[in-house]
Amino acid sequence: MRDLREDMASILLTEEEIHQRVRELGQEISRDYEDKEPIFIGVLKGCFVFMADLIRQVTVPCSMDFMAVSSYGNATTTTGAVKINKDLSQDIEGKHVVIVEDILDSGVTLHYLTGYLGNRKPASISIATLLDKPSRRKADVAAKYCGYTVPDAFVVGYGLDYAEKYRNLPYIGILKPEIYSN
Ligand code: IMP
Ligand code: MG
Repeated sequence: MRDLREDMASILLTEEEIHQRVRELGQEISRDYEDKEPIFIGVLKGCFVFMADLIRQVTVPCSMDFMAVSSYGNATTTTGAVKINKDLSQDIEGKHVVIVEDILDSGVTLHYLTGYLGNRKPASISIATLLDKPSRRKADVAAKYCGYTVPDAFVVGYGLDYAEKYRNLPYIGILKPEIYSN
């Protein structure tokens, strides 16, 4: 039986480490958003594992919605424009928004999204990301809630994919370089 673990050069974050940190983030958000009834907006697809775990650590009343986006251009060149493939199903005017992302990399996606959602006059917008790769930042965007800062390596698992695979891994791993060259 083939095990995806064989495709990893190393494990960056174990299931236990992630779980512990996500619990802390949920507690922090619950404190900050007491009486604010936040709406969590997940950015599909990468957010889905993190968001499912995070919201179960949130103890205050809240709601959630999802968006799906893709960047124009390819992996190496980005125009800075983002295509909305699925928009929100509700109005966010006057609401406290928490955008939930898997990883903040160049920042292009979240820079665009905060502007896009900001036009709808929410009461506030903050970002919760599981991972942050600050070394690759191109757009000016910062996450209020961040699980872990990671080095400039391509990581997969816990929702993050390479070519739509590896999202199901319960840990975050660094892919073996030969996987890219196949
Ligand atoms: P940004 O607009 O460059 O910040 O893009 C963020 C998006 O790129 C994330 O939501 C991921 O889908 C993807 N991404 C960036 N780095 C990685 C990585 O190391 N592994 C998997 N996906 C990544
Ligand atoms: Mg993503």
